[in-house]
Amino acid sequence: MSQVKLPNLSHYWVPFTANRQFKAMPRLFKAAKGNYYTTMDDRQILDGTAGLWCVPAGHGREEIAVAVGEQLRTLDYAPAFQTSHPLAFETATRLAEYMPKGLDRIFFTNSGSESADTALKIALAYHRVCGNPLRSKLIGRERGYHGVNFGGIAVGGIAGNRKAFGNGLAGVDHIRHPLDITKNAFTKGVPEDGGITLANEFEQRILTLHDPATIAALIIEPMQGSAGVIIPPKNYLKRLREICDKHGILLIFDEVITGFGRLGAKFGADYFDVVPDILTCAKGLSNGVVPMGAVAVKREVYDAFMEKSAAGAIELPHGYTYSAIPIACVAAIATLDIFFAEKLEDRAAGLSDYFGQAAHSLKGLPMVKDIRNIGLVAGIEFEAASEKTGAGAFAFATYLKCYELGLHVRYNGDIIAISPPLTIEKYEIDRIFNTLSDAIKYVASLGEAGLDVSRYLKNEQLWAAHSQTTI
Ligand SMILES: Cc1ncc(COP(=O)(O)O)c(C=O)c1O
Repeated sequence: MSQVKLPNLSHYWVPFTANRQFKAMPRLFKAAKGNYYTTMDDRQILDGTAGLWCVPAGHGREEIAVAVGEQLRTLDYAPAFQTSHPLAFETATRLAEYMPKGLDRIFFTNSGSESADTALKIALAYHRVCGNPLRSKLIGRERGYHGVNFGGIAVGGIAGNRKAFGNGLAGVDHIRHPLDITKNAFTKGVPEDGGITLANEFEQRILTLHDPATIAALIIEPMQGSAGVIIPPKNYLKRLREICDKHGILLIFDEVITGFGRLGAKFGADYFDVVPDILTCAKGLSNGVVPMGAVAVKREVYDAFMEKSAAGAIELPHGYTYSAIPIACVAAIATLDIFFAEKLEDRAAGLSDYFGQAAHSLKGLPMVKDIRNIGLVAGIEFEAASEKTGAGAFAFATYLKCYELGLHVRYNGDIIAISPPLTIEKYEIDRIFNTLSDAIKYVASLGEAGLDVSRYLKNEQLWAAHSQTTI
């Protein structure tokens, strides 16, 4: 193996990562092109996760690189408050055209987390400006993920992301998540049954408890991504839409993962044919290269602020220094151009059966408890690890083995998620699931010894020990 000089690993606090473990076996990419990463020791790793779900058009797109480079030399920054620049308006117009019909007023943020908190604030302020300040409660969903800011973790439903951070927001509750492995294990695509009953619980249980007149908004991901690829049953989202309409509650779709073609349609809203009042996105919006998020609202929502706020008032006292910075705008426009030229959402739709079948070929392997798929997403859920080994031990070992074998997957608890760039080819889909199959068999064949992480990435460990300095 060639000698690799690692950077000093001491100072950087790696997000959402077990830092001590990571720094003992760092996994660092130095380049990316198309559907592949290059590691520090010059190995090619197939990107089974489109970065963090954020690179739908594949890596190293020249069109985006050129646009961003040129923009930096033309207008690097314009103050985002009280002044602006034409590209911000052009990007909003282009995005409005891409959005589901009616969602054509756009607020820009820098991330999915900021989009979630922005959407919640717009919902609260909307009811207030309409003269309904009592509508101040926010409803999320168990196992939902809406980023890491205080609003997002309050309506989010992943316990581990909430418990370290105090009391959160008041006036928040959660509906049940729709995953039912006892009934729906190994369903291909959308589960058929139970959607209406489950959605009705929102009205019967949560709204009855709180009084619907106090609820500002319900926020959900059309498909729950981060907590393990949870696919809503048929008619579930439609019924939630009806209940929100009946009670004057705003419906927010967090489409940070499901936006930009992931399900084989532009947005989850298009796939499920349900239009929310507010839709958040980020990630794929700029193909992951410049931080950018957006919140699209129905025209009626925007108009309410414009018509009912006092003359001259700032209608929404909210915004970010980097809202719609020029380089994010050109990255988004170039990304939308790519989506338009390459019809990436149609490409994803065309590949989704093939991808789903490849995912379900893992059924019957040791430890595999459920497989879920939709569009170009698959979730492989493993039997829960024993108390001794801790949650997620099998998935983590499988993830490490995949990395060793040249494939990047995402692990979260007992689940491995696959969500490749939408530019993926069929032979690469085969490679993803063949590699995953080999990794699962390998880890399982070793029993408990397979869960010992020191067994994996030996090379990387060696060079980490070799060149790491500690301060
Ligand atoms: C549904 C959803 N909302 C929000 C976020 C947070 O996005 P970010 O990490 O850009 O803040 C994510 C990230 O994965 C997400 O999946």
